[in-house]
Parts: sequence; C-alpha cells; structure tokens
Amino acid sequence: MNNCINDNSNLIGRRVLVTGAGGFLGSHVVDLLEQQGVKKVHGVMRSQCDLRDTSAVRELFEAFDPEVVIHIAAAQGGVAWQQANQCTAFLDNAAMMEALVAASIEKNVIRFVFTASSICYPAKANIPYQEAALWDGPPEPAHWGYAHAKRGGIALLQSAHQQHGLGASVVMPANMYGPRARFEPDRSNVVAATIRRCVEARDQGQDSITCWGSGRAIREFLYVMDAAEGVIRAASCLEEPQPVNLGTGVETTISQLVESVAEVVGFKGQILWDTDRPEGAPRVCMDITQLQKQLNWSPPTSLIEGLRATVDWFESSKG
Ligand SMILES: NC(=O)c1ccc[n+]([C@@H]2O[C@H](COP(=O)([O-])OP(=O)(O)OC[C@H]3O[C@@H](n4cnc5c(N)ncnc54)[C@H](OP(=O)(O)O)[C@@H]3O)[C@@H](O)[C@H]2O)c1
Repeated sequence: MNNCINDNSNLIGRRVLVTGAGGFLGSHVVDLLEQQGVKKVHGVMRSQCDLRDTSAVRELFEAFDPEVVIHIAAAQGGVAWQQANQCTAFLDNAAMMEALVAASIEKNVIRFVFTASSICYPAKANIPYQEAALWDGPPEPAHWGYAHAKRGGIALLQSAHQQHGLGASVVMPANMYGPRARFEPDRSNVVAATIRRCVEARDQGQDSITCWGSGRAIREFLYVMDAAEGVIRAASCLEEPQPVNLGTGVETTISQLVESVAEVVGFKGQILWDTDRPEGAPRVCMDITQLQKQLNWSPPTSLIEGLRATVDWFESSKG
C-alpha cells in the first residue's frame, strides 16, 4: 500500500500546478518544490486566475497542461471571519473545487492533492480525531460554511476517483503557524495574534498582557514548512482520496503557547487570563498514525523552534 520512500521522486520532471501560491502555505510549497529540484512548477495567484471562474480555470489548464494539481487556495480566515462569511466560505471554496476537478478530469491530470482541514471533523468526534470519524456527525456551527465546502470537496474527489479514475489525495492540516502567516487582526490565528500581542507589550514596556479564556484549552500547532513538506510527500505518494491527518499529534495548552511565545519574544511581564472571554472547544488534536504509516514521516519541527523562526520573520518584516 505504501510506496513512499521519503521524497518527492514521483514529482521530478512533472508539470505541477500549485494554487494559492500567493498565500501562506502555497508560497512555501512552491519554494520547497523548487528547492527540491522540481523544475516545472507553476504557482498561481488570485491576481492571475480567479479559480471560481470555470472558463479562466480551463484556460489556465490549456496554457500549463498540468500533470499534478496541488490545490491550496481557499477562502478562509479565523473564527470571526468564518462566522461572518459562512456563505462566502461555502460558495467560493465549492466553486474553486468544482472548476479545478472538472478541468483535471478533462485534462487527464494524474494526481490532485486537496488541502482540507481539521475543522471538517464532527464537533462531537472523539479526540484525538481519527480519519474514520470524519462523516460521523456535523462540524462545529462556527465553521459551518467553510467545513461543509471542504467536506464537499473531499466527496467530489472521491466521486471523481471512482468514476474517472482521477488519482487524488486529501490532507487535513492542523492549525498552521510560521513565516508569512497572516498577522492582520481579523485574519490571524492564535499563534500570530499572541506573537503580535507579546511583541507590542514588550516594545511598549507593558507590565502584563491579558489573554482570553482560562489558558487550559488544548490545541495542536503545525509549522508551515513541515506542512509544505507533508503536502509534497502526499502529492508524491498518496494515490487515493482517503483523508490523512497532517499534524504533529502534540497537544499544547494555550497557556503553554503564550508562555513559549513570551519567552521567545523576550516579554517578561505577567500573563493574566480573562475567564469571562470565550476560549472555544476544550481540546482539539489529531491522531497522526495514518500520516506516519502512509508517508513514513512526521513533522520534525518542535513548537519552540518553529516559534523562533516565526518571531524572527515577524520582527524583520515589520521593519
Ligand atoms: N492556515 C491554517 O492554519 C490552516 C489550517 C487547516 C487547513 N488550512 C487550509 O490550508 C490551505 C492554505 O491555507 P493558508 O493559511 O495558506 O491560506 P491563505 O494564506 O489564506 O492562502 C489562500 C490563498 O488562496 C487564494 N484564493 C482565495 N480565493 C481565491 C480565488 N477565488 N481564486 C484564486 N485564489 C484564491 C488567496 O488569495 P487572496 O489572498 O488574494 O485572497 C490566498 O492567496 C487552505 O486550503 C486552508 O483551507 C489552513
């Protein structure tokens, strides 16, 4: 079942189309493919092609004639963005997926890789999430539109695989962080928001910062460069659209995250918790047994190493 040695050997020499190339994960996937010697990589940004537009996608496929499609583009944001944009998240993500899968079938693409999300899991699934539980119940209402569009994308790929033999793989990334993450307040996740808060508190000489919740909620964090490597390994090795979790399997409390960020940033003030503020689900983490088994690999970067690289990037990019 597993022919994944440890590399991208099935991609060398292939024409690889990467969507979302102007975004966080997509830009790292393009860079890593190029560093690994995959020469025919075409990263596509929204300014070059609106992937919701079927004719534009068809033209893109005519021009580049991809053999492998790595679909990373998504209409997405933090919880607040998703709650305010349920319909947009559904329509945009579904439309991109439909246009891309239809063009891939038409052009006999040999492998389609889809980045879904850990958010697709049922709100009541057992923790750590196992792939087999994906369809056991509805997702969290806060992510309704986004999660259903991603689930629909998985079902579409499974149907295309069954009816047309489209080679496909689906990865379910955990919460990502790293250089080039979105730091804008309305689009950032907890890691980026915490880094920004600690850097500002340090620079302004504040004695304390106040974080939302109790700090006891548990999350899983994936370094973006490890995520890029996992996506490339999936593109090279996985041939069936059965979802595979792409995470670390490491559980971190929010208070451990904040303490680690404060240490890396050099913020020495007090960390206070406002328990009247919401903190979301008490525990979110994925089981990575399938990742280890099918890709012979797991993400190597520790949280503290990843945070150091992220903070360095953030400090240098803010000038
Ligand atoms: N970030 C996470 O923690 C996380 C966790 C789990 C799964 N994922 C999934 O992983 C993938 C990468 O996430 P990310 O954080 O790298 O996202 P990102 O930085 O928001 O990048 C997504 C890219 O898609 C582009 N895009 C959106 N709508 C488009 C359209 N209609 N046509 C063409 N391009 C379009 C965006 O362009 P604009 O910037 O111009 O809008 C952006 O460059 C996504 O599929 C996401 O759902 C992410």
